[in-house]
Amino acid sequence: AGSVTRDADGAVRVGGVDVREIAREHGTPAYVMDEDDFRARARAWREAFGEGADVYYAGKAFLSKAVVRWLHEEGLNLDVCSAGELATALAAGMPAERIAYHGNNKSLAEIERAVTVGVGHIVLDSFQEIVRVAHVAQSHGVRQKVLIRVTVGVEAHTHEFIATAHEDQKFGIPLAGGQAAEAVRRALQLDGLELAGIHSHIGSQIFDMAGFEVAARRVVGLLAEIRDEHGVELPEIDLGGGLGIAYTSEDDPQGPHEIAKSLGEIVGRECEGAGLAVPRISVEPGRAIVGPTAFTLYEVGTLKPLDGLRTYVSVDGGMSDNIRTALYDAEYSVALVSRASDAGPMLARVVGKHCESGDIVVRDAFLPDDLAPGDLIAVPATGAYCRSMASNYNHVTRPPVLAVKDGGTRVIVRRETEEDLLRLDVG
Ligand code: LLP
Repeated sequence: AGSVTRDADGAVRVGGVDVREIAREHGTPAYVMDEDDFRARARAWREAFGEGADVYYAGKAFLSKAVVRWLHEEGLNLDVCSAGELATALAAGMPAERIAYHGNNKSLAEIERAVTVGVGHIVLDSFQEIVRVAHVAQSHGVRQKVLIRVTVGVEAHTHEFIATAHEDQKFGIPLAGGQAAEAVRRALQLDGLELAGIHSHIGSQIFDMAGFEVAARRVVGLLAEIRDEHGVELPEIDLGGGLGIAYTSEDDPQGPHEIAKSLGEIVGRECEGAGLAVPRISVEPGRAIVGPTAFTLYEVGTLKPLDGLRTYVSVDGGMSDNIRTALYDAEYSVALVSRASDAGPMLARVVGKHCESGDIVVRDAFLPDDLAPGDLIAVPATGAYCRSMASNYNHVTRPPVLAVKDGGTRVIVRRETEEDLLRLDVG
């Protein structure tokens, strides 16, 4: 997070608050989010893309009412992909026209809700959905603004489970074989739809702009085809999210200004080549905004030194608050934050408390050799896809999200209680 400092006694302060105080008052594990850092990142994206573009924060990375309010105040729009995300956005006062609705299998009820509350646009993901959305819109006497999501056939260099633009996966309509062109043909014929543009999302945790370049080129190519066939220039393109963040010191992400500049140049050049007016560009960063703004605070429970191997350091959370290591082999770093230590390095594996050996939070890390039960350790860059993918595995309660700012701490998502766990059991 942005404002992390160490006191003379070695305790870490974030947003002016001592982590030991956070642990005492709110318990561990806890996600600690730096509000100023979140707002600064959101604002940086907004400013980098400027007035001619829209930034839709991807709510799947992390969503709560507080975060929706921050985004609203900083001038960002919101991308949601379920009725639950939409409900959260509306409950926090995000204007419906600033919401984009995504998903590869939206239910009729979800489509009804999106259309009737008046979301800004719906991203159509299949041939069936083109007809469904048109039908719902028409039955309500409205023309729904839509984009069509296409798969451009790019192999993004990221984990297989989070790459989304190659052909053999469930999202979007392939450009290949003229399928996307056919989808456009159908959408243009339906009265209930106002086709505003084309959407592409190539994957997540990407560092290389080459994939975006190919995607932009192919999307602009489709716009040119559409102009030639139908005589219309669609006014918008959305290039999705996916910009990577630094999980360890080996990652070197670009900032929003560099990204805005290169996307602007690529789209500008391609449009000039095709003789098209430059469309309005939108992007959907999730991780790049929220990921770096939070860390997870854990208390060390047991230590198990295995001779010649490593020391297993067990913490009071695990795969229920961070599934990313188990699921994607994700890499994280970790630090002792409750005190100073000048002990030598100890090769550690930070593991959780769940009944499964894959319950690893940080696979390989060095921690001080004098680490002891009761020490607090922090895993940085857990703002994205950790709380939002948290589970109640083994009936653990999900941790709270705490916002720190100006020396104060505010609960923005409270810790679950045993009552919460039992509230759905009937009988
Ligand atoms: N737009 C669309 C259409 C998306 O599907 C996604 C992410 C985003 C934007 C935001 O991508 P971001 O900027 O956050 O990379 N659970 C995985 C990531 C899944 C991403 C799904 N879609 C993880 O923990 O790495």
